[in-house]
Amino acid sequence: MSMTEPRGMEPAAPSTSSLKVTLPTLQEKKRNHAPISALTAYDYTMARLVDEASVDLVLVGDSLGMVMLGHESTLAVTMEEMLLFTRAVRRGVRRALLAADMPYASYHVDIAEGVRNALRFVKEAGAEAVKVEGGSNRVELVHRLTDAEIPVIGHIGLTPQSLHRMGGYRVQGKSLPAAELLLGEALALEDAGAALLVLEGVPREVAARITAELAIPTIGIGAGPDCDGQILVLHDLLNLTFAPAAKFVRRYADAADAIRNAVEDYRKDVETRSFPSDAESYHLPAETRDRLAKMAERQPRKA
Ligand code: KIV
Repeated sequence: MSMTEPRGMEPAAPSTSSLKVTLPTLQEKKRNHAPISALTAYDYTMARLVDEASVDLVLVGDSLGMVMLGHESTLAVTMEEMLLFTRAVRRGVRRALLAADMPYASYHVDIAEGVRNALRFVKEAGAEAVKVEGGSNRVELVHRLTDAEIPVIGHIGLTPQSLHRMGGYRVQGKSLPAAELLLGEALALEDAGAALLVLEGVPREVAARITAELAIPTIGIGAGPDCDGQILVLHDLLNLTFAPAAKFVRRYADAADAIRNAVEDYRKDVETRSFPSDAESYHLPAETRDRLAKMAERQPRKA
């Protein structure tokens, strides 16, 4: 456990970027054609860094099943895991809007169970919105969640929870009928009360059309630059995924390399006894140190 100070409650200097982001903030951004920035985060440390970088929306994505828990897909992630990570992120996020992903099977059996689970994210973990994957099959759920005062983020296109139905992670909406279907799904979710819509893995032209048709903001991932905002998995942009980057990922840093080098340097310093140094050690006051030395002289260690 490090002995650094906990995050203080000192007032931040007032500036536009320190104002709490709310849903109306994001709606206003859409109206003003100001891009919305969004990223995933799963733990306190990363959440705090992302929040301090003034990203508008932090999503505790169920992608945590892959990047934090090492699963092959998002399907195994449970409610309890999502709640644990969301609580940690909540402690690190002050400014951004905080959304949590509803994991597979938490809203697929019946609507009432979906509403109960979504309420847990708000009441037990401090989420300000929940995200659900799916289109017209989620309309009733989105209605009910909105009725229960829970803002909903829809998610259509390449929906990772539909992995088996899609037969892999494939770009969606590539034909005209498929593109029209996606537009219909987007409009149905908006009509049902969705506050935002994630468009994942769809052709740029389709995302642009949906963005132009909707009053609510669209947030793209692998959907081109014409969405109202962009989201990436934080571990993708930091190169912390042990996998080649998808076409739509831009790597902004190589944290894997930085961490590997730092850990190797530490190991070498331990093995060569150059860590810790005397300056990195605590010391007795001079008088106590002298008395300890005298005691050692009087009571030499038995062989
Ligand atoms: O789980 C996730 O991280 C997501 C985003 C990438 C949209 O759904």
